[in-house]
Amino acid sequence: MWAIEVRDLTKRYRGNGFAAVDHVSFSVKSGEIFALLGPNGAGKTTTIKILTTLLKPTSGTAKVAGFDVSKDKDSVRKSIGIVFQEPSLDWRLTGRENLDFHARIYGIGRKEREERIEEVLKLVELEDKADVVVDKYSGGMKRSLELARGFIHSPKVLFLDEPTLGLDTHTRRRIWDYIGELNDKEGVTIVLTTHHMEEADYLCERVGIMNQGKIIALDTPKNLKDLIGSDLVSLEMNTRDCNTDIFKKLDFVTDFREYNDFVTLKMERGDLRIPAIMEVAQREGIEIKSVNLRKPSLEDVFLYITGRRIRE
Ligand SMILES: Nc1ncnc2c1ncn2[C@@H]1O[C@H](COP(=O)(O)OP(=O)(O)OP(=O)(O)O)[C@@H](O)[C@H]1O
Ligand SMILES: [Mg+2]
Repeated sequence: MWAIEVRDLTKRYRGNGFAAVDHVSFSVKSGEIFALLGPNGAGKTTTIKILTTLLKPTSGTAKVAGFDVSKDKDSVRKSIGIVFQEPSLDWRLTGRENLDFHARIYGIGRKEREERIEEVLKLVELEDKADVVVDKYSGGMKRSLELARGFIHSPKVLFLDEPTLGLDTHTRRRIWDYIGELNDKEGVTIVLTTHHMEEADYLCERVGIMNQGKIIALDTPKNLKDLIGSDLVSLEMNTRDCNTDIFKKLDFVTDFREYNDFVTLKMERGDLRIPAIMEVAQREGIEIKSVNLRKPSLEDVFLYITGRRIRE
């Protein structure tokens, strides 16, 4: 059963010569955690806004929880929760009041509301701060509260637009745990957007990589990384003054990329090849400032498909 079905979705903002979302198609399974991963301006928020009925598509169709986002907005809205990219809490109210206000809008009765507020506060570990005004919350606490608010009415599908943007590593990890737990305990389908390849990799069953309005790859993180396969060896050097082509010519190198002051070589068993690489560098008088051997990440997948980094 599909929670989301998107076909040929296109959005042109008035005055723009390009499509912010350009013939995008994908589906999300019920109960899945799915990410749209991509750089600034890729069209992630625009896609989310269309799926949450906040923006009209120029063409194409999308169904959320079985309802068409253009023809049956009210049913879509009743089925979803949203955490926006921009903070949207009322800072003058306490955490509990923010949650209560939201639950009232969804018509949840008093007793159920009180129980549910306790439940969601517990999940994001804000019980102790429930009666403090949000103005006094840290960035991570605010984001946790927004997450709690997004699912207080038990939506079928929860949209999270950059849920951990601007948070430190530790807080980000905690939010990941909450998202995972929520999906696990309540079975809610989660669609999130992120710049953060580790976030997509860690949390999501499948990832759609977005660039310039298009989905350029879509699969499980593992399958995406397997597209590259092999090991990657990155060499840091002053690339402008070196003949980097000599690395390209090594017979065990199956792919070569140059980016800023790094040359990245793809090969099997990089661990065994590093001495030979260093020997060549030394012979050519190339000073290697650092060497890094790694398995491909989703960032590498993006780099290999687009020739750019997610964070330029
Ligand atoms: N209201 C608007 N009017 C005109 N153009 C817009 C509007 N909103 C977004 N755009 C443009 O559409 C493109 C996609 O923007 P969008 O916000 O969907 O990207 P994003 O992937 O969410 O980026 P970010 O990672 O920075 O949040 C960008 O080129 C942006 O400038
Ligand atoms: Mg965005």
